[in-house]
Amino acid sequence: MSWHATVLTLFPEMFPGPLGLSLAGRGLREGRWRLEARQLRDFATDRHRSVDDTPFGGGAGMVLRPDVVDAACADAIAAGPDRPLIYLTPRGRLLDQALVREIAAGPGCILLCGRYEGLDQRVIEARAMREVSVGDYVLSGGEPAALVLLDACVRLLPGIMGATASAEEESHADGLLEYPHYTRPAAWQGRAVPEVLLSGHHAEVARWRRAEAENATRQRRPDLWLRHHGRNSDASLLVP
Ligand code: ADE
Repeated sequence: MSWHATVLTLFPEMFPGPLGLSLAGRGLREGRWRLEARQLRDFATDRHRSVDDTPFGGGAGMVLRPDVVDAACADAIAAGPDRPLIYLTPRGRLLDQALVREIAAGPGCILLCGRYEGLDQRVIEARAMREVSVGDYVLSGGEPAALVLLDACVRLLPGIMGATASAEEESHADGLLEYPHYTRPAAWQGRAVPEVLLSGHHAEVARWRRAEAENATRQRRPDLWLRHHGRNSDASLLVP
């Protein structure tokens, strides 16, 4: 059984979208993973196929109905149990590489995309949904967030990226931003490539890359630096 993603959405046409192209798309065609996008409206029970209603307590916007969402969840769970049920929302835990790795290592996921003002809180609790955000900004719906989460997971699946993926992952695993990259021409617009990269000295190249990665992380993302390296590193040793 391949890694199986089910997306519950009012806009199933958004899938596979960019995930049908490039490495993820090839993986999809090769059956290395599976993607189903289900129309939430198909689980409505009234004549008008309504999925949302006005919020109790007043206020702007509409709220997705718990009964409709619950029926969609039940259907997705029946199609592939033991997958985490994830609601994409800016109220959720921030997606990071650790969570991506955890989801990619499992049997797949069920992703619920909200629209309008949100989702009735009771179905979030009743289904014990994991709430995940892709960043501290507000999208008009969960669909682009679902695409982000899926892309990050799928590239980690066996056979999607080939041999380079696992090695590359190691650098994420240690919580560092990547070092800068260079290719030909060696001189361009008066800008040279760092000498050490032309030296052919593998150990020195590795040392330089490590130092660049550490410096970039410390300067650009002090939060990441502290989280992963705060206690067991001596920042004073780094080139400023
Ligand atoms: N839906 C709207 N904004 C979102 C975000 N930042 N992350 C996940 N889902 C969202």
